[in-house]
Amino acid sequence: MNTDRIAIAALLSLSLSWVSLHAAEPNPSKPLAENISLLDATGQIHPLATVSKKKQARVFVFVTGECPISRSYFPLLGRLDKKWNTPDSPVSLTAVWADVTDTPAEVRKFAQEFSVDLPILIDRDGELGKRFQTKFVPEAFVLDSEGQLVYRGRIDDMYREIGRKRPEATEHTLEDAVAAVVAGQPVKEAKTEAVGCFYESYAPLPGEAADVTYTRDVAPILFANCVQCHREGEVGPFSLVTYEDAAKRARQISRVCESRLMPPWKVAERHGEFEGQRTLTDKQIETLKAWVAADRAKGDPADMPELPKFPEGWYLGEPDLIVEMPIEFEVPADGPDLYQNFVIPLDVPEDKYVATVEFKPGAASVVHHSLLYLDKNGAARKLDAKTPEPGYGTFGGPGFLPTGSIGGWSPGKTPRKLPEGLGRLLGKGSDLVMQIHYHPSGKVEKDRSKVGIYFVDKPKQEAFALWTSSFLHDIPPGESDYKLKAVYTLTEDVTMLSIIPHMHLLGQTMNVVAELPDGTTRDLLHMPQWDFNWQDEYVYAEPFFLPKGTRIVSEATYDNSENNPSNPSSPPQRVTWGEETNDEMLYCFFLVTTEKKEVIEPMVVDRLTREGIDRAAARLRLKMAYPSGQLKLSK
Ligand code: HEC
Repeated sequence: MNTDRIAIAALLSLSLSWVSLHAAEPNPSKPLAENISLLDATGQIHPLATVSKKKQARVFVFVTGECPISRSYFPLLGRLDKKWNTPDSPVSLTAVWADVTDTPAEVRKFAQEFSVDLPILIDRDGELGKRFQTKFVPEAFVLDSEGQLVYRGRIDDMYREIGRKRPEATEHTLEDAVAAVVAGQPVKEAKTEAVGCFYESYAPLPGEAADVTYTRDVAPILFANCVQCHREGEVGPFSLVTYEDAAKRARQISRVCESRLMPPWKVAERHGEFEGQRTLTDKQIETLKAWVAADRAKGDPADMPELPKFPEGWYLGEPDLIVEMPIEFEVPADGPDLYQNFVIPLDVPEDKYVATVEFKPGAASVVHHSLLYLDKNGAARKLDAKTPEPGYGTFGGPGFLPTGSIGGWSPGKTPRKLPEGLGRLLGKGSDLVMQIHYHPSGKVEKDRSKVGIYFVDKPKQEAFALWTSSFLHDIPPGESDYKLKAVYTLTEDVTMLSIIPHMHLLGQTMNVVAELPDGTTRDLLHMPQWDFNWQDEYVYAEPFFLPKGTRIVSEATYDNSENNPSNPSSPPQRVTWGEETNDEMLYCFFLVTTEKKEVIEPMVVDRLTREGIDRAAARLRLKMAYPSGQLKLSK
């Protein structure tokens, strides 16, 4: 923060002494008639004043450096700072740091890392939060020149709920409110609901005895289910290793666990049969809630469990082959998510079989997941050559027909080798195409991810992929429950190893069932709330046999209404199948194996042929229905 900034902050000489919150929030619990002074991140004191002769609108935004939604708004706050915080501007913008555990030095470091230069006041004892009755971070407040609260709520509509982000904001609520104030007009909507983490100020109650305590009841839940991702250097946006880490966001923790947003696990309970299942029991969720109700009591230090040990380096030991992205890729601070494909020549001179891969994200905070495709035909190299940046961007697939795949990675995944004696073919001369889904985090990050490959020598059997697919999407705008079904009948006996569902942003649910020739059925997957952000491979704990003639039926639903917070189009548009963000897909992949080596190629060729026919038929159908060329069709 430079001295100009401090000067501006001081110039504002804000004071909330007589601020009244009538407009948007009647009867504040505490009269705002007293003076309040806050420190900024550089240690300067700012007495906040009531009336501002210089500014028609004063904006305060409560933030923290750890809530992921709050972090993601820093680039925008930086732009608003440049626009509003100039000496002649009728508007001022001040961030209010709401995390009482951060020191000014930590706030300064954060501002530097996130390249933001706006004035940040530190609400050390939560006094300002109390006066404003802040509910969320981030939450914005606009005061007029008389100190009247004229707007409180969200910054824009980028988030409809936690974990549901639009590709871009369609309403700039805060900027519109400020524009109205400056124009001397009433703000259209004086109060909106902000989306973010709960605003929580807490006072530690060390050693307090209570029915539910951190050390005895809560730490074991967090250590077993959360810290694999929520610790230093891992993908979670903050650590949950200490009492303080948990206590200062206790309500948010309880909320995201109750809504089953965390731990991330998108398949329903009734499939107890997947490896590495991550779900909390109802009792564990009740414990977290009871702990919040018990004022986050710390409890007896003697009850504290040991922090689990996490292996350093490669989880399965030194891989047979380690490859990495050719050069660093720079992930911007904000903007839509990116799907970047990096082509890595493997120089494998003979056919090899892969037992598993271990993916190591370079910048864990922005790498959301990765899929590892193979390309024997040089198709990906050609796509890469067309774009100047490292790799090339797509959405969904890799932009070419892969000649294989060796798996993928998503946060929290423990690498496991395929069952004994199994391997996936890595054909000689293949390139590895590492597709990475990047999730901008509010700060520019440089990524150079790595993959360790573990081979298996002369495996007994090969594991390979089959799939169901449909291309018949024709989803009218506004349709909230569009159903689509894809069926594939096995032409040979197989053993099922894992399942990978795939849709795009309108996808809501997927159910996959095997209908066996003897008339019995078996659930393969039940996904009540599809989430494009948490795509995963679900590995069956016990591989199982499906006979030739089994019909695999996947049924999916899509929501193309305005109410779907992930809908990339506003207003909703008609949606057909394709690879782009605005298109839809229905795929479900299965990793299978068979004792009969000779049937693999015919099965895969049969599957590809049927897919080709289905695609052509779908295209023809749409062309006939909409002959005038109003429809853009994917290749
Ligand atoms: C597999 C990795 C993983 C596990 C396990 C996990 N988390 Fe998370 N968590 C994440 C990631 C990644 C995010 C950031 C999501 C984002 O940026 O949208 C997150 C976000 C959060 C948030 C902030 C949500 C928000 O957007 O405001 C909370 C709170 C949270 N996790 C709590 C927990 C708790 C409690 C557990 C254990 C019961 C847990 N998490 C287990 C990866 C994980």
